[in-house]
Amino acid sequence: MEIEKIGVIGAGQMGNGIAHVMALAGYDVLLTDVSQDALDAAIALIDRNLTRQVSRDKISQTDKDATMARIKTTLTLTDLGASDLIIEAATERETVKQAIFEDLQPHLQPHTILTSNTSSISITRLASRTDRPEKFMGFHFMNPVPVMQLVELIRGIATDEETFKACKTVVDNLGKTAASAEDFPAFIVNRILMPMINEAVYTLYEGVGNVRSIDESMKLGANHPMGPLELADFIGLDTCLAIMNVLHDGLADTKYRPCPLLTKYVEAGWLGRKTDRGFYDYRGETPIPSR
Ligand code: CAA
Repeated sequence: MEIEKIGVIGAGQMGNGIAHVMALAGYDVLLTDVSQDALDAAIALIDRNLTRQVSRDKISQTDKDATMARIKTTLTLTDLGASDLIIEAATERETVKQAIFEDLQPHLQPHTILTSNTSSISITRLASRTDRPEKFMGFHFMNPVPVMQLVELIRGIATDEETFKACKTVVDNLGKTAASAEDFPAFIVNRILMPMINEAVYTLYEGVGNVRSIDESMKLGANHPMGPLELADFIGLDTCLAIMNVLHDGLADTKYRPCPLLTKYVEAGWLGRKTDRGFYDYRGETPIPSR
């Protein structure tokens, strides 16, 4: 099956990166969001990130211009009905995602593949509420999308081989690597990464180290590009907590219990970089550790 037109739902952190890499790889992209401001901000950010790639000689100015020309935006979700492949990257709430798929369904072509960039919600359950569980799968990018090499492809119980192969071809065309994951809570990357981040928060909570010593230990002692608390701020503490809850509920094992300190930061609205405050305070020139 030939995929040419790609619909991306949600112009946030992940959606704009997905639109960026898809258009750069030559796909026609239609990006939608509920707010015009979010669409405008996404286009401006894609432009800035492409400019950064031009300035580092990763791509040419012609590539950049062609990429920008391939991205269109719309506030009307149902305009995405003409797409061959749809990647949903809306808010990480199951009711929101389900409502989006319900609204889209009557407008889709018979061959349209539906996917979700969810980091932890059951693909099988999302798929079961659509008219095409065999043409539904998880298409999970890592942040920052233009930089990270991996895409997790998650098959629901009903996903057919043709759908998997079509999505795998798209990942290959992006120049990225696909990891095939089974549909169990948080898949592969987050199943491993989030308990590590949660353990770093416990290490802070119990006073074993402070924010700076924990992050430095993992950067210098384990060669991680970012410390776990810095990374948690980058991902969003609300997202980290939501994924820990999915692991805890879905696997019913106390080893996944979210650290109370993580819950407290989320309750305070200290969600990391997106709110300028998390384990670090980003309101000044340089990030200041919060404890
Ligand atoms: N668009 C395009 N290029 C970008 C970019 C963006 N948004 N962000 C960074 N880059 C490029 C830079 O231009 C730079 O390119 P060169 O190598 O050509 O110079 C390169 O990426 C490195 O960037 P920087 O020099 O600015 O910064 P850095 O060296 O500190 O690297 C980082 C930044 C790539 C984010 C690095 O710190 C890193 O890998 N961090 C870990 C990220 C990670 O673990 N992500 C996964 C999170 S988990 C997830 O996403 C799953 C989930 O569901 C929660």
